[in-house]
Amino acid sequence: MLTLALPKGRLADDSIQLLIRKNWLEDKPNDKSKELKFLDPLGKLNILLVRAQDVPTYVTGQAADAGIVGFDVIKEGNYDLVYPLDLGIGKCRLSIAGNPGFDLKKHLRKLRVATKYPGITREYFFSKGMSCEIIKLYGSIELAPLCGLADCIVDIVESGETLKANGLVEYETILQSSARLVINRSSLYTGRSELIQLIKDLEIN
Ligand code: PRP
Repeated sequence: MLTLALPKGRLADDSIQLLIRKNWLEDKPNDKSKELKFLDPLGKLNILLVRAQDVPTYVTGQAADAGIVGFDVIKEGNYDLVYPLDLGIGKCRLSIAGNPGFDLKKHLRKLRVATKYPGITREYFFSKGMSCEIIKLYGSIELAPLCGLADCIVDIVESGETLKANGLVEYETILQSSARLVINRSSLYTGRSELIQLIKDLEIN
């Protein structure tokens, strides 16, 4: 049996539906249960429900054979993982956004950027030859320019509804993201047959 780390949050439902469709899971975990580890009745998967940012840690630490996580998280963390499959779910982009009228080119002071993605953000502005102060936040990033904490944000945009609801404008996309299957390098090389089968099954849409 394989142990799979699944992300809670935005990717949870789509990941579970995909695994049900591919006959790797029988059912959704009980929404009301606080249990974080469960054995699916089909007996193929032992599921660990973890925060999206923690999926790579469980897989690199070999607590899970594989996991599902957004490319944005993989890129931010620079993990030593194999990610052979784009699962085609959880499509979103990482964009710079700001108050209406915000223009990077017209910005004169040192830029203050609020984000959950300091690594990607620093690398992006560095590649443009711009220096910036990164303000690391853990959520509700859109608030930062609204209350003067930052000049702009670098954050996930999926439907665009959160930006719209907060009167912010998307300025530029810096990364396209979607969910990937991630696998521990040594688990892959030992070539466990169930793992190879999981990759094959998820490969075909
Ligand atoms: C993400 C992201 C945006 C929002 C974008 O937040 O940080 O706030 O979703 O989605 P949309 O374009 O469909 O509106 P998330 O829901 O993960 O919560 P968080 O703010 O607590 O990180």
